[in-house]
Amino acid sequence: MNRRTALAGTMALVTGLMLSGCSSSDSKPELKVTGAFMPQPVSDMAGGFLVVKNDSDISDRLTSVTSPISDDVSIHETKNGKMHMVKSFEVPANGQLTLERGGKHIMFMKLKKQPKQGEKVPVELHFEKADPIKVDLPVKETNHAPMKH
Ligand code: CU
Repeated sequence: MNRRTALAGTMALVTGLMLSGCSSSDSKPELKVTGAFMPQPVSDMAGGFLVVKNDSDISDRLTSVTSPISDDVSIHETKNGKMHMVKSFEVPANGQLTLERGGKHIMFMKLKKQPKQGEKVPVELHFEKADPIKVDLPVKETNHAPMKH
């Protein structure tokens, strides 16, 4: 190895250290949830929508969602008008995971009670790397009924 490559290697190492900055752990991304809501359900099923922002250099995955309102919460993707259950969704590094009508969403089945507009539904999002995030989904007007499977 000549002097030049050795120097380049040192520089890369220094840059790497600087990028990880003062965060206590470099293996956990910092995630933020915005725009969460649930359309007021019209049956014992409901959908949940939100955006997970990832401002770190580490990609993560949303692996599951839990809520006191249902023991049967899963994550779905709508493709060609049909919903499919998926194991996880990527939360890309320096990007975001968008759950929206007609696309990826959280699916609540067998609701224990039907929440009304103005109420809030607590959920906990579980990730592969990041710590779980608790968020309240404000219940909005129904302009979308979750489709039957
Ligand atoms: Cu669904």
